[in-house]
Amino acid sequence: MINEKIQNVLNAQINKEFYSAYLYLAMSAHFDEIGLYGFSNWTKVQAKEEVDHGMILFDFIIERNGKVELSQIDVPETILGSPLEIFEKIYEHEKYVTGSINCVASMSDEECDLASRNFIDWYIAEQVEEERNAYDIILKLKMFGDDKAALYQIDKELKKREYNQHNYK
Ligand code: FEO
Repeated sequence: MINEKIQNVLNAQINKEFYSAYLYLAMSAHFDEIGLYGFSNWTKVQAKEEVDHGMILFDFIIERNGKVELSQIDVPETILGSPLEIFEKIYEHEKYVTGSINCVASMSDEECDLASRNFIDWYIAEQVEEERNAYDIILKLKMFGDDKAALYQIDKELKKREYNQHNYK
């Protein structure tokens, strides 16, 4: 059975993942409003992945005979700014999530909970990808600055992102 300390941080992590989904959905709505449908697609796909991240944690707690405790999800701040500014916020948010995942890993080590430690490795690898994905788009947006034609091309590229359900096992 999972110990209470680890159970609490995993439950808190579920909340962070669902908050991430809300944040990306708010961004997606904003991009829809300003006609950047590729950016909207990219952030909407990301929101779905965040729900997967939350559900994988949910299932793991159950699998360890623990108790899932859902808590209130904060409303994301109003999304404003250029695509570059928004993607810089995404990058900062993902670095925050990485820090949170790292704390779960450290606590699992401290508590000698090797099942949780092994489980959280999937998230550690996933966060490398999450940060890189955001950073990659930041690089492109910085490279082309205010060039509207380039922004249009990037938007077209981001429209191609497809959702593939994330599974732990
Ligand atoms: Fe589930 Fe983007 O971290």
